[in-house]
Amino acid sequence: MKFFVDSADLEKIAYLNDIGLVDGVTTNPSIIAKSGRDFIEVIKEICDMVEGPVSAEVTAMKADDMIAEGRHLRKVASNVCVKLPLTMDGLKACKVLSSEGTPVNVTLCFSANQALLAAKAGATFISPFIGRLDDIGLDGLELIEEIRTIYDNYGFETEILAASIRSVGHIKECALIGADVITSPPDVIAKLSEHVLTQKGLDAFMKDWEKTGQKIL
Ligand code: G3P
Repeated sequence: MKFFVDSADLEKIAYLNDIGLVDGVTTNPSIIAKSGRDFIEVIKEICDMVEGPVSAEVTAMKADDMIAEGRHLRKVASNVCVKLPLTMDGLKACKVLSSEGTPVNVTLCFSANQALLAAKAGATFISPFIGRLDDIGLDGLELIEEIRTIYDNYGFETEILAASIRSVGHIKECALIGADVITSPPDVIAKLSEHVLTQKGLDAFMKDWEKTGQKIL
């Protein structure tokens, strides 16, 4: 399973990247706004830091304008992945940009039917939003299962990039279902390392070690 970091916080991306936990990065207009940074500048800095795909989202609503913005974003760095919304205009732009060899991440996916269209339009990644479905009482993980079944039924190469991750439970369940990628806030990825028995066991080891009066160095 690939781990993408859903953030434009360079410090937090670097921390996880140094541990080998960053296979890519995703951003969206809200993440960019939260960063307070210039969009193109921060995307360039992230692309220089990580080797994997870095999703940069267009803000146009019409296909021709999305295509123009996508081509412009693609020039920022060779690992820019153009993010497009799951609308008919977004799907049209996906078809054109993907046919030019541009990696495309189709985002704001909330149904299996939408994911089916994205695969047929040539999307590299589909981003179903788990947390936002959970927020309205639906089952976000069920959507991941549905998309996995449909893509496997027909051999679609589009990768399932599970997004709107809110918990370590989401990440585990996505791995059990077989999502290709999760994109998560950096703090949730870091939380994967935590277990009460690990800390308890380490504390006990150190307490017993202190009794020996020894040092390794
Ligand atoms: O990549 C999509 C993600 O940023 C959305 O997450 O928590 O705003 O639903 P959230």
